[in-house]
Amino acid sequence: MSDQTLLATGPETGRLSDRLTLRRLICGLWQVADLEKDGAPLDPDAAADALQAYADAGFDTFDMADHYGSAELITGRLLSRYRDDARRPRAFTKWCPEPGPMTAEVVRAGVMERLARLGVEKVDLLQFHWWTFEHPAWLDALHEMTRLREEGLIGEIGVTNFDAAHLAVALADGIPLVSNQVSFSLVDRRAAGPLSDLCRATGVRLLAYGTLCGGFLSNRWLGKEEPAEIPDWSRQKYKRFIDTAGGWEAFQGILSAADRIARKHRVSISNVATRWVLEHESVAAAIIGARLGESEHRADNLKIFDFAFDAEDHERLEAAFAATRPVPGDCGDEYRRPPYLTASGDLSHHLQAIPSVFTAEPVPGRKNRMRVSSGSVWEELAGYSRAMRVGDSIRVSGTTATHGSDRCVAPGDPGAQATYILDKIAAAIRALGGSMDDVVRTRIYLRDAAHWEPVSRVHGRVFAQIRPANTLIEAGNLVGEYLVEIEAEAVVD
Ligand SMILES: NC(=O)c1ccc[n+]([C@@H]2O[C@H](COP(=O)([O-])OP(=O)(O)OC[C@H]3O[C@@H](n4cnc5c(N)ncnc54)[C@H](OP(=O)(O)O)[C@@H]3O)[C@@H](O)[C@H]2O)c1
Repeated sequence: MSDQTLLATGPETGRLSDRLTLRRLICGLWQVADLEKDGAPLDPDAAADALQAYADAGFDTFDMADHYGSAELITGRLLSRYRDDARRPRAFTKWCPEPGPMTAEVVRAGVMERLARLGVEKVDLLQFHWWTFEHPAWLDALHEMTRLREEGLIGEIGVTNFDAAHLAVALADGIPLVSNQVSFSLVDRRAAGPLSDLCRATGVRLLAYGTLCGGFLSNRWLGKEEPAEIPDWSRQKYKRFIDTAGGWEAFQGILSAADRIARKHRVSISNVATRWVLEHESVAAAIIGARLGESEHRADNLKIFDFAFDAEDHERLEAAFAATRPVPGDCGDEYRRPPYLTASGDLSHHLQAIPSVFTAEPVPGRKNRMRVSSGSVWEELAGYSRAMRVGDSIRVSGTTATHGSDRCVAPGDPGAQATYILDKIAAAIRALGGSMDDVVRTRIYLRDAAHWEPVSRVHGRVFAQIRPANTLIEAGNLVGEYLVEIEAEAVVD
């Protein structure tokens, strides 16, 4: 909404694109789902009044999702009070479909449902979440969302919980993404790594959540005993982050460093925690969760904009970080592989229930042989399978970044092509009963030897712990726009 204006009061303003401004503190509504977890929805008028109080105080950017209980409906109730008012709050929501074919109809239905629930003709920012990149339809969904953006149903497109590698694939494939919503806090500092580097290079901005670890990063928990029982989903989730990042004692080290800084600047520990995240160049805004009708911290949170870190503050925090363990992997991994750091914990049952992209079929007339096809035109034409299993051994054909039957993904970007290829190899091995942990051999063919580094880094991201035997060679002209081809062998024992 390029014609929207923001109140002069309230948190600092920022920008996700030339047509989308926002508050640098966003009011997060996941907590609505927690408040409604016993089955009784919040009263929509009372809840909209609570949102109105945020909006009137200048906290007029709201973040929600399709699965945050009645959050979209409550926000819709609030938005209906503004109609043609240029001060209408911004409503950012998410669409988190189950992996499956992302046809134009499926995507349009997902978007139309968001518009209907919010009661608007255009969603200001629609953020897309995908459970497993082995299922390639995520690119179809984002391309279709891009078409709906051109049609005027979506203001801007973002993603959530994307790692740097897959954000790079999306960008190299031409998706006009403006943001990636990820966990980022004094406890979980992954977003400061490769993701921030990519954001600096491309202009994509981060929307940070978990900045207060559900409220653990506050004066309330300084010097307190480790809690045995945690009633709310948000703190259940961030307690897992705290445990993974070195445990309660290491966490108390961060809290006491933040407390020293807070007392120096006459602010709260929560202010320090949020300010630290906001001072990262890649971060457009921090999302702070609101427990509507139970608590609110607007006045305290406004103090975030009254101070800034100095070198001593950074040194103090770095010393506390040294006693912690980095949360492993990259952003979003907590939803896709162990350690699962979500409210419900282990998500492996959910991931296993997602249908495999490829279907294994027996090789006619042969015992102990299975194969999968990925549907590329060349498999049929040249007579080969994507992968074949013989006994315990799986061999995956030389695989390129072919999407659907013949489209080259991420033309011109060898690293992004390699990321896409390894997802396809993982899917083929999984369909035949193995996993990437079983890979014993990879071979990489490059069109241009100068591309060795980005491709090697992608291989390293996936195989750093597995370390299969590997060959990397320049193969001269690969067919079409392909810059990389990778083959793999796995032994399932
Ligand atoms: N994309 C995703 O996958 C994803 C995942 C999680 C969250 N999110 C988004 O991020 C939002 C943030 O939620 P979160 O779960 O990460 O929680 P959070 O923002 O880290 O913590 C929110 C809690 O912090 C406490 N708090 C806030 N300001 C405070 C202050 N100034 N002083 C002391 N305590 C303060 C409040 O606790 P009390 O109410 O107990 O006082 C509040 O409920 C969500 O609502 C959602 O929009 C997105």
